[in-house]
Amino acid sequence: MALLPSMYIRDSADHVGEAVKLAGWVYNKTEKGKLVFIQLRDGTATIQCVVFKKNVSEEVFARAKELTQESSCYIHGTLRADERSSLGFELDVTDIEIVHLTQNYPITPKEHGTQFLMEHRHLWVRSAKQHALLRIRAQVIAAAQEYLNSEHFVRYDSPILTATAAEGTSDLFATEYFDLGNAYLAQTGQLYVESGMATFGRVYCFGPTFRAEKSKTRRHLTEFWMIEPEFAFADQDDNMELQENFVSYIVQRVLDRCEDDLKILERDTSKLENIVPPFPRISYDEAIEKIKEGVAAGATVAPDNAPLAPLEWGDDFGAPHETYLASLFDKPLFIYNYPTKVKAFYMQPAEGRPEVVRCADMIAPEGYGEIIGGSQRIHDAELLEARIREHGLDVADYQWYLDLRRYGSVPHSGFGMGIERCVAWLAGTRHIREAIPFPRQLYRIYP
Ligand code: 4AD
Ligand code: MG
Repeated sequence: MALLPSMYIRDSADHVGEAVKLAGWVYNKTEKGKLVFIQLRDGTATIQCVVFKKNVSEEVFARAKELTQESSCYIHGTLRADERSSLGFELDVTDIEIVHLTQNYPITPKEHGTQFLMEHRHLWVRSAKQHALLRIRAQVIAAAQEYLNSEHFVRYDSPILTATAAEGTSDLFATEYFDLGNAYLAQTGQLYVESGMATFGRVYCFGPTFRAEKSKTRRHLTEFWMIEPEFAFADQDDNMELQENFVSYIVQRVLDRCEDDLKILERDTSKLENIVPPFPRISYDEAIEKIKEGVAAGATVAPDNAPLAPLEWGDDFGAPHETYLASLFDKPLFIYNYPTKVKAFYMQPAEGRPEVVRCADMIAPEGYGEIIGGSQRIHDAELLEARIREHGLDVADYQWYLDLRRYGSVPHSGFGMGIERCVAWLAGTRHIREAIPFPRQLYRIYP
């Protein structure tokens, strides 16, 4: 027997005047004499269902009164256009079938603390704002893959259990791997997609990545999802061009497809509408100068208006420096050519300036921080081997990676975008923990 509803609430416009059967959960309910108003959500949208005593049997009216928050049910009725409702449609109820009557749902319309909500994350995801955030997440992922697929990038999956480090050895999660010693959870799929680069020319991997970083900030997760394109015969300029097109596509798709979700989140979309190529680009050298000027002028940084900390050439930026630099522009900002010593071993040195590498970070506007890290990769086997040694890594572990430079080596580039950082920015949520169904953070693993 089929259990499906006859339609989904999001498709209401196609069913006006029809007798329909909806299936979902009671989001909220109010009673007013001979009327019961049920806000029914089916995952696609929420609709107001109006139960009028004189239109239904006594049993059905009693059932309507009995329904509680988050009870599951079928509601039958006639769909009607209604200008006053936020959806634009309402249901005049004729019948109700209760599937499960919920008692004492823990999350009520009153305010709850973050700790409580995080402990109830498995239920919190049903709330309107969380639902909106996670729908935006799904659209970011869909749009990202759509864009790459349309540009001839082939999805090429990288392993999660790896033998070696790719982004520094200090923040690796190790796990015992039978009697072979340790395996490590992947920090990135990059080294593996580089092999696919020489197979398909253009590839990307997409999956969870892991960082045992001791960073207790609103921008860090220990498990996050990253999409990592890699392409052949491409330098760092090609790389930045791809990134600005990629990010602009994602932003515009989210604006198109998540209008209601952005409204629920009260996101100021005027700040997203202008996200189109080209994006501003400044070198690391220029960024240092801007920070020095900012420090001299007594600049402070939102949200706590802390004074901008001084920096010297060669230092890596902290989150407040990124926020300050981004605040000087209204689009995502590329900062390129960072000092070699603060970046990963595989990055191509700038011509005539070995102290900087051909890389760029993309910093989101409005203080959402780095959303993309990317670079041109070293394609010379000897230079790459020397860099592996300088970083104190075991060359034996990287022979397969060096092979990619021994057989048909080409200049190539790529980048990684953190899905949750991108979602936090587009949805306008300050804390990255709400941009993933089950966040893993330094100090706590919630359900
Ligand atoms: O800058 P990262 O470390 O770059 C890489 O891993 C490269 N191998 C990518 C590549 O070139 N294929 O990380 C890339 C992005 C960051 O810009 C950020 O968006 C996200 O991954 N990211 C994190 N997101 C959440 N929590 C963390 N701890 C993150 N670390 C990085
Ligand atoms: Mg980075």
